Amino acid sequence: MKPLMRILAGLAAALLLAPVAGCLPAGEGGDRALRDITGLMPELRFTLTDHRGRRVTAADFRGRVTLLYFGFTHCPDICPTTLARIRRALGETDGAGGVRVLFVTVDPARDTRAVLDRYVSAFEDRFVGLRGTPEQLRDLARRYRVAYSRGKPGPDGAYPVTHSNAVFLFDRRGEPRRVALPIADARDFARGLRLLLEQPGTRT
Ligand code: NI
Repeated sequence: MKPLMRILAGLAAALLLAPVAGCLPAGEGGDRALRDITGLMPELRFTLTDHRGRRVTAADFRGRVTLLYFGFTHCPDICPTTLARIRRALGETDGAGGVRVLFVTVDPARDTRAVLDRYVSAFEDRFVGLRGTPEQLRDLARRYRVAYSRGKPGPDGAYPVTHSNAVFLFDRRGEPRRVALPIADARDFARGLRLLLEQPGTRT
């Protein structure tokens, strides 16, 4: 295979494996945790509704380093663990005041605006909860090859949801630069953030 094809194939495999790989312990991720995807994926583009009920687009975040993550608030372990690692990384990174963490729910039926608001507010104000119509969600997930699915409901009506556990890091121009795989710990996220924040012109 050509080198670019090999990278794309590897990336696709990593993302597909992500829900399973989320069970791996965190630790010495190194470059295995943070893949360079510069030039390999399209720029950030979406129209969604934020946790305050405002219609937002990717243009609202231009000039900021942003992280993009797909999950759902009922997630018992992986989502809260990942978001906690990101929060720790934000706290340990100088100049990260302008960073925004975009948490896109793949379960908009249960994650109403109010539920999403409570959830992201429990983290901190750099976290933005986003939800959309099934079509808006599907378009954004496809753009970054993120998989999610809703399982059969049990007797109580509750249903399981699976989702890829990759976190995409975008520079201030909205270009995807790194993808953090499930083994990424707070140090890995901080390293990725510093890398992008060192570029001039970032909003603070
Ligand atoms: Ni989750």
